[in-house]
This record gives sequence, C-alpha cells and structure tokens, in this order.
Amino acid sequence: MVMKASVVKAVNSQINAELESAYLYLAMSGRMEELSLPGLARWLRLQWEEELVHAMKFYDFLIQRGAAVKLEALSKPTADFKTPLAAFEAVLEHEQYITDRIWKLNEVAVKESDYALQSLLKWYIDEQVEEEDNARNAIDSLKLVGKDGSGLFLFDREMGQRTAGAEGGEQ
Ligand SMILES: [Fe+2]
Ligand SMILES: [Fe+2]
Repeated sequence: MVMKASVVKAVNSQINAELESAYLYLAMSGRMEELSLPGLARWLRLQWEEELVHAMKFYDFLIQRGAAVKLEALSKPTADFKTPLAAFEAVLEHEQYITDRIWKLNEVAVKESDYALQSLLKWYIDEQVEEEDNARNAIDSLKLVGKDGSGLFLFDREMGQRTAGAEGGEQ
C-alpha cells in the first residue's frame, strides 16, 4: 500500500525528533564529562546511539514502503546543566515530549488506516514506557544521593556499567 503524503510527512518529522533526541543526549554526555561524571557520560552516550537506532528504524520503514526520506535541520541542544539531577530531569521531560509525539503519530496512523505504521509504532510505544522509567529511576537515585559526593561517585560508577544495546544502567 502506498503511504499517504500526510503519513510520510509525520514519519519524517519523527525522524527529525529522534535525531534531535540523539543530539541532545550527546550534548548532555559532553556536559557530564565536564562535570567529571564519566559513568553518566557513558550512559548518555549509549543513549545517543539508541536514539540513532530509533531514527533509523523510521528511516528504513519509509524506504521499505517506497516513500521519500526528507531530513530537516536539527536545533541546538541545551546542555549547560549545573547538576546531573537537572540533566536527568530534562531527560524525563524530553522523553515525555517524545511519548506525546509517538502517540500523536499513532493517531495519524489510525486516522489514515495505515496498519503497517500502527504495527511499527507498537514497538515505540513500549520503548517510551521504558525510556521514561529509566529517566525516573535515575532522578530518584540522584535525589537520594543529594550532595553526598561518595554516593554520587558510586551512582556514577553504576550508571557506567551500562552496555551497548541494554536498557538503563542501574538494573
Ligand atoms: Fe527515541
Ligand atoms: Fe528516547
């Protein structure tokens, strides 16, 4: 089935949003390096890679469906966070924004009766539950740690245990 123009446009817009997520997390990773938190930097760097995978899943989907990929400009990411807690609060806020976008994209897919896109979006809907949960867990830990330097040292080390392809860093 040929994809409707409105659906192609919405998927292209989501490719941009996923690439912007990647760019944001890369900027945050650099900031964590600056704050001497290599574990959190590693966790966010792996998150950058994961967001690229999210973008490419939509990219490949458009190609498979015979639709045109249209890339747009990326906006400048904000990363001048004073604390790791502020950074992970921004991660949660960003993931909630992405969840909202995915749900709205699903509404487009339903409205246009695009069953293939609805099927693909199931994966993203589940993924967003995990993404928000990971951010919330990190926030909870960072709140517990507070200004305790040794607690932050240990939490940073724990987050640094994250391996490529694995979700979260603290499970
Ligand atoms: Fe994503
Ligand atoms: Fe994400």
